[in-house]
Amino acid sequence: MLNKRVEEALNSQLVIEANSSHYYLAIASWAETKGLNGTSEFFYEQSDEERMHMLRLVKFINERGGQAIIPQVDMPPKDFGTITNVFNEFLNHELLVSAKVNEVVGVCHEEKDFATMNFMQWYVSEQIEEEALVRSIIDKLNLIDGEKSGLYMFDRDLKTIKSPQITINNDI
Ligand code: FEO
Repeated sequence: MLNKRVEEALNSQLVIEANSSHYYLAIASWAETKGLNGTSEFFYEQSDEERMHMLRLVKFINERGGQAIIPQVDMPPKDFGTITNVFNEFLNHELLVSAKVNEVVGVCHEEKDFATMNFMQWYVSEQIEEEALVRSIIDKLNLIDGEKSGLYMFDRDLKTIKSPQITINNDI
């Protein structure tokens, strides 16, 4: 049975993942209307992954005797400016998610819920991979430095970049 404080922390994380999925869906849609097909595909995939992160939490909370609360999501922006801005925002958002994941792990530790702490390790690993991926993309953008043909190739090449799949323990 989940401790109430741990259950609340997991439900808060569920909100973050739901909002992330929605936020990346908004970027994907915006990019599609700008002809940035690679960027669009990349963020459609990110959005699907964040939904999967949310679902893992829904299943885990319910299987452990808690109740997953499906939240209302925030309205994301409609306009994201430039590709560089998109990826800087992507990094900022993922850093925020990482901080929130660490908070949940902290609560698990304080409450001595080591099973949930183990479950959350998947998210810790996922965040390390995601942050590394975004940083490597931002490095490429910095090399291009706003140059048009470089941005065209960057967008095209994004179609081939896939997020690493984390497959450690606790598959639920
Ligand atoms: Fe599930 Fe990258 O946050």
